Amino acid sequence: MSLKILDIKAGDEVIISDFSFPATANVVEDLGAIPIFADVSLETFNMLPDELENKITTKTKAVIFVDALGNPSGILKIKAICEKYNLPLIEDGACAIGSSENTIKCGNIADLTCFSFHPRKLLTTGEGGAITTNNEEYAKLLEIKLNHGSVVNDGKFDFIDYGYNYRMSELQAVMGIKQLEKLDSIVKSRNTIRDMFIVQLEQLGFKEQKVTKDVVYNVQSLVFQVPSEINRDDLVSYLKNNKIETTIGTYSLSATTYYKNKYNNIQKNSSNLEKNTITLPCYENLEINKIYKIISGYISNVK
Ligand SMILES: Cc1ncc(COP(=O)(O)O)c(C=O)c1O
Repeated sequence: MSLKILDIKAGDEVIISDFSFPATANVVEDLGAIPIFADVSLETFNMLPDELENKITTKTKAVIFVDALGNPSGILKIKAICEKYNLPLIEDGACAIGSSENTIKCGNIADLTCFSFHPRKLLTTGEGGAITTNNEEYAKLLEIKLNHGSVVNDGKFDFIDYGYNYRMSELQAVMGIKQLEKLDSIVKSRNTIRDMFIVQLEQLGFKEQKVTKDVVYNVQSLVFQVPSEINRDDLVSYLKNNKIETTIGTYSLSATTYYKNKYNNIQKNSSNLEKNTITLPCYENLEINKIYKIISGYISNVK
């Protein structure tokens, strides 16, 4: 919807973070526009400012910055570049509810921010999501597009555009609003778990996803790079056999079969991160010491 109200059309280029869930690229592709994959930092896993600046062309019409796994580190630098080139910035904040940079909450930074409320997210309404914007013109266009292209004039419906039924239902909204009350405390408790894992796993050669100064990270997904001598997939299987559920970090979009076949432009850092990152469990009353011991046992066997 954000791309549509920005009037992104076939042939336009949209620069996107490469380390993400495929939805980030799919929305561009769906309009016939061209996703331009920008590589990410091996520290924060987020779009590199130089990558963005080097990939801007006369065809660039928008930028989608992804808060990788919920971490918005670096978005203010990306925003400054977008302002310099007069490009609208969309934040794929699917994972970032409750995060902030420099005390500005995600949802209040970019021109348009898209949140997901899928069950895996910190705040869920079952499915669905929300877009936030401080731009009144964008808000008006979204309202029309999400409501079958309708406006109400003198109490009467008029259909001034074609549109969709993409409204959030009231039942979903009630669920979401209730969860907002506990969001900050959930973020705090996830950071406590993250800090404990970092202290232990760093000794084993794991590298955490870095958070830059002045960023509050909601720890939507607790992701580490595994030590170089470790095969990530083998570790995931080993932990599964020990009844610990883990998964990969996320995907390199340019390396997925569809986008590789179509654009053949694999991004190096991002595809390395796809291969060597692991998402660990993160919930209250987690037995961190037990998990640490199992991982530690695995590593001493491999070494
Ligand atoms: C970064 C990112 N963008 C977009 C999505 C898609 O969200 P939804 O399933 O709510 O459309 C996800 C889902 O996990 C995601 O992680």
